[in-house]
Amino acid sequence: MTEFTAIEHPNPTPQEKITEALANPGFGTQFTDHMVTVEWTEDGGWQNAKVEPYGPISLDPAASVLHYASEIFEGMKAYRHSDGSIYTFRPEQNAARFNRSAKRMALPEIPEDLFVQSLEQLLAKDKAWVPGGEGESLYLRPYSFATEAFLGVRPSKEVRYMVIASPAGNFFGGELKPVKIWVSRDYVRAAPGGTGAAKTGGNYAGSLVAQEQAAANGCQQVLFLDPLHENSVEELGGMNVFLVTNDGRVLTPELTGTILEGVTRSALIQLAKDRGLTVEERRITLDEWAAGAADGTITEAFACGTAAAVTPIGELLDGDKTISHTGDYSTTLALREELLGIQTGKVEDRHGWLHKL
Ligand code: COI
Repeated sequence: MTEFTAIEHPNPTPQEKITEALANPGFGTQFTDHMVTVEWTEDGGWQNAKVEPYGPISLDPAASVLHYASEIFEGMKAYRHSDGSIYTFRPEQNAARFNRSAKRMALPEIPEDLFVQSLEQLLAKDKAWVPGGEGESLYLRPYSFATEAFLGVRPSKEVRYMVIASPAGNFFGGELKPVKIWVSRDYVRAAPGGTGAAKTGGNYAGSLVAQEQAAANGCQQVLFLDPLHENSVEELGGMNVFLVTNDGRVLTPELTGTILEGVTRSALIQLAKDRGLTVEERRITLDEWAAGAADGTITEAFACGTAAAVTPIGELLDGDKTISHTGDYSTTLALREELLGIQTGKVEDRHGWLHKL
C-alpha cells in the first residue's frame, strides 16, 4: 500500500452547488473538488502520492509532454448503487491497458494496486459528486505525462500521474438517441506498428480534423477505415463499433494492433456470448456493412466505450452515400441495459466485474 498525503480543501463546494452540478452533469465540463497526483523519477520510482484540492498545475515550459506529446490516459466511471455505495468497473483491465499504453509510449508502468488505490483515494474525498440518475456516473480520468524539462527526444526521466473526476451524463448530450457517423475518407487514425492500440492523447488530437468534418456534415462521430485492408472498419474517433445481424451474430473489428482494446468492448463480447449470440471478431469492410444494411442482414450498429456506454448508430454518411439502420435496436438496447444494470447494481454481477470504491 502506498501512503497518500491528503491535503484538505480550504473551500469545498457546498452540497447545494454539487446537487446543482449533478442535476445536469453534461460530459467533461465540471470537475470535483480533488485530484490525485503521484510523481515518478527514473532514480526514485513512484513517490509523493497526494490527494489534494483540484486546481491548476505548474509545468516547466520545456516539459517534454508539451513538445512531444508523451501522454497516456484511461477513461473509467464510478457508479452509485441504490444503497448509496459506489463501484467502479473492471479497474484491473484499465490498469493493464494503461500499462500497455505506457510501454508503447516509453512512459513508466504503474503498479496495479497503486492505480486502483488512486481511484479509491479520490473517491474517499469526492463521493458526493457521483450522480445517481439513469445513465449517469462520475467519469474518472487517470493519466500520465512526461514532465522533464528537456528538448532532446528521449523518454522522460520525470513523469507525473494524475486522476481527475467529472460528473457525466450522456456523452452525446440529452436523451439517448441513434447517432449519425461520418466516414473519414481523407484521414486514417492508425497504421500497423503505430500507436493505434495505445490510449495516448495524440491519437485523439489526430482525429480532431476528421471530427470537424463530421460535425460540419451534421454527424456526431467519425468512423476511421483501414485502407490497407479493403477499407475495413477500425473504430470511431473515441469508441469501438459493433454490428448485429438478423441471424443472431454480433460482429466487431478484431484487435489488429491499430484499434483500442476497449474494456466496454470486451464486456459486451462476454454479455453477447452469455445471451447465446455468436460473436465474430474479424475484419469487416465498409462494403460488407453497406451491403448488409441494404439487404437487411445487418440490422443494428452501435458505438461503445466507457464514455459512450452503448449508443445506437442510426446512419453512416460516406460522401454522398448513406448507410442507415432503422430497426428497433433490440439487441443493442438489451446489451446496454444489461451492462448499465451490472454497473449500477441492478443486475447481478455474475462475472465479478465490480470493484467497491
Ligand atoms: C472513454 O470512453 O472513456 C474515452 O476515453 C473516450 C474519450 C474520447 C472520451
